[in-house]
Amino acid sequence: MGRIYFRPTCILYTLYAFLGAIICCRPMLKDARATVTSSIPTIARYFTTKGRYEEVNPHLIGDIYAVNTSVLQALSPGCREMHLSTIIRHGTRYPTSKSVEKMQRLYNLIVHNASGNAIWVREIKEKFVMRYTEEMDGRLADKGVLDHKHLAVRLSKLFPSLVSREKLRGGKISFVTSSKHRCVNSTLAFKRGLTDLWSVEEEVEHTVNDTLMRFFDECPRFVKEVEEKPGSMAERDKFELGPEMQRVGEKMADRLGLPYNLINADMAQAAFHFCAYEFALNTVNSPWCRLFDEVDAQVMEYLNDLKQYWKRGYGHLINSQSSCILFHDLFSRLDKAAEESKSGGPISEAVSIQVGHADTLLPLLTLLGLFKDEVRLTAANFAAQGGRSFRTSRTLPYAANLVVALYDCDEGGELRVQALLNEEPLTFPGMEAAPLYRVLRQHYLPLLKSCVFEEVCRLPPQRK
Ligand SMILES: *[C@@H]1O[C@H](CO)[C@@H](O)[C@H](O)[C@H]1NC(C)=O
Ligand SMILES: *[C@@H]1O[C@H](CO)[C@@H](O)[C@H](O)[C@H]1NC(C)=O
Ligand SMILES: *[C@@H]1O[C@H](CO)[C@@H](O)[C@H](O)[C@H]1NC(C)=O
Ligand SMILES: *[C@@H]1O[C@H](CO)[C@@H](O)[C@H](O)[C@H]1NC(C)=O
Repeated sequence: MGRIYFRPTCILYTLYAFLGAIICCRPMLKDARATVTSSIPTIARYFTTKGRYEEVNPHLIGDIYAVNTSVLQALSPGCREMHLSTIIRHGTRYPTSKSVEKMQRLYNLIVHNASGNAIWVREIKEKFVMRYTEEMDGRLADKGVLDHKHLAVRLSKLFPSLVSREKLRGGKISFVTSSKHRCVNSTLAFKRGLTDLWSVEEEVEHTVNDTLMRFFDECPRFVKEVEEKPGSMAERDKFELGPEMQRVGEKMADRLGLPYNLINADMAQAAFHFCAYEFALNTVNSPWCRLFDEVDAQVMEYLNDLKQYWKRGYGHLINSQSSCILFHDLFSRLDKAAEESKSGGPISEAVSIQVGHADTLLPLLTLLGLFKDEVRLTAANFAAQGGRSFRTSRTLPYAANLVVALYDCDEGGELRVQALLNEEPLTFPGMEAAPLYRVLRQHYLPLLKSCVFEEVCRLPPQRK
């Protein structure tokens, strides 16, 4: 790590950590220094939606502005980029108040009642400063601002003629965001990343559109049949009380020196959150991470994946269908650019930047048929699902992003599509890499014809 630390971008990170520590509270200085020496928690790749973007793209740890141009290798060198549509999750955020409350309870329990005498138990009891408060309620963190600023710069390097100064000033880059603070602030950060890069003084506008970016709130059938329905998450709930989770709790209780009955699944989740947040927010490998070995972390990851699977993924059909509106919005942007390109005219929208939530991205990825395993995720098949492709630690870290780029490769006016997820090439199920747009459209034609938000989201008539 020492080697990496001296690279300029890492110095920036460290400086940021130090400044944060000084501004925030002095005891944190110790944590900030630990950043330099300590490594990444070994369990950091199991943090699901609480994971750092850098874990998915480790080359960014050395250089946060590094782009891997070979992700566009499926295209021939002569191809010209014509249009870019992106859907991006907000950056690193603070825990929600509900989560903070559980963390507070665990912290108090350990301080007052844990009798374990490992060094790190004493560190939690004596040195750890409980800074998490309920007012943090899911706000975007400073790190989250950087996530978006840096992503903006990387996309400008990856798509230089689209994410460009000229296109920004010409109003060819549109911004749409969910109304949530953390999304609006992520959008501002993304724009700032570009305006700072090119010293653009003009205001760049964005619009708030929850119909599009928070469709899940506006889909009555989803709300009624999943969100509010007892039992819709039964597999997750069963797993929470099952033998794997029980074992995690017992091991944690043993390590802390607490009776088994005091460590339930909520407490295990709280400890996992401590480890994840201390790392995501402060780049600290905290003593909390010592409460889990790798298998424990895999169990915690599965618990969270089960939640995502049944709430936003393949678990219930309406989960993905609720994103029909975003699906159509995406294809209508692509259609428009493809038509404008075909008729030789200028492309009116070069780039579309849309900022939302993990809950926005996952239903869409699911609708597109991505990361689908043959066997469903259930409470009973943790061991068999070890190699599953539905793994939100990989797909949905903070600032997770789906990028769909259209290219003109001189094929008689036909365009090609290259999709990226988190800056890695994405192949649509059953399709070749970088297919013709016409072929992609054909592939999704059944959805393009039938996936109508108002229809799928309508509640079935009540039976008396
Ligand atoms: C760059 O992208 C290519 C193609 O996806 C991949 O094989 C390679 O591992 C990537 N390199 C890095 C440093 O991530
Ligand atoms: C924890 O310790 C406190 C103070 O020593 C004590 O009052 C309380 O009963 C203990 N709680 C449990 C659950 O053992
Ligand atoms: C968003 O940013 C503004 C200005 O930087 C700040 O005042 C506000 O607290 C931020 N909101 C959230 C939810 O992070
Ligand atoms: C939000 O997006 C939808 C779908 O593209 C569109 O129909 C609607 O007009 C937009 N609403 C606002 C307020 O821009």
